[in-house]
Amino acid sequence: MKAAAVVIPVLCIIGLATVLYVESAESEAERAARYRGCLLCHTDSFEQEPLSCLQQWQHGTPLTPMVHECMLRAHPELPGEDAELLAHYITARQLPLLAAGRKTERGAALYAAKCATCHGKNGEGEPGNYPPLRGSEWLIPAPDRPSLRQIITEGLEGPIRVNGQDWNSTMLPPGVTDPQDVQLLIEHLQRFH
Ligand code: HEC
Ligand code: HEC
Repeated sequence: MKAAAVVIPVLCIIGLATVLYVESAESEAERAARYRGCLLCHTDSFEQEPLSCLQQWQHGTPLTPMVHECMLRAHPELPGEDAELLAHYITARQLPLLAAGRKTERGAALYAAKCATCHGKNGEGEPGNYPPLRGSEWLIPAPDRPSLRQIITEGLEGPIRVNGQDWNSTMLPPGVTDPQDVQLLIEHLQRFH
């Protein structure tokens, strides 16, 4: 009883201190960005577009030093005391953009490797042999036909209708099994609507 009376308030104080510390660390970087007037010119706060200087960035290599370097290349006059803080500020905003870019690339690469030989580079299909994906109603979920997830993992066989044309053939499972890959591929296929 006595121990709890001491431990609980102490834990509360530690928790509160952590929250305040994290909050103040974040707003410090934000304050620095505002104080230096960065957001006057960079009105999107670095969260809309990937920085052009990060095109060479490889997934898995440290990002903050690269941001730091390209920031100083663009603005060599920037004082050192803020540069590191600002590099963290920009990196935090760039990471989701770069991660999204990686996903798009992965979906496109899977399509090129596993589907394009039959369904065409741009989903146009091959007259007489392989049905098109471009404009296909099969991209839209409906209760009376298998989902894209099923088609990708199990293949498809028998008479079907695509964009008003009849087909009757077999598609063996094309070999995309990882659930996350299947999801990225399905997202990529949405561009053929
Ligand atoms: C007066 C307008 C202006 C201000 C203020 C400004 N910038 Fe810039 N910044 C630019 C311009 C213009 C470029 C493009 C330069 C180039 O392409 O080489 C740039 C480029 C950059 C880049 C590289 C962008 C890329 O896509 O590679 C970074 C990072 C950057 N600025 C960070 C900052 C930070 C941090 C601050 C605040 C300390 C700041 N900038 C303040 C105008 C400004
Ligand atoms: C070896 C050739 C081949 C490959 C590779 C292939 N398909 Fe197919 N696909 C077919 C054939 C043939 C059909 C028609 C099956 C039928 O008649 O029942 C078909 C049908 C489809 C359909 C339904 C009809 C349509 O055109 O909308 C979808 C969706 C589809 N495939 C998606 C994919 C995806 C996604 C991939 C890559 C993961 C892929 N296919 C890989 C041959 C292939």
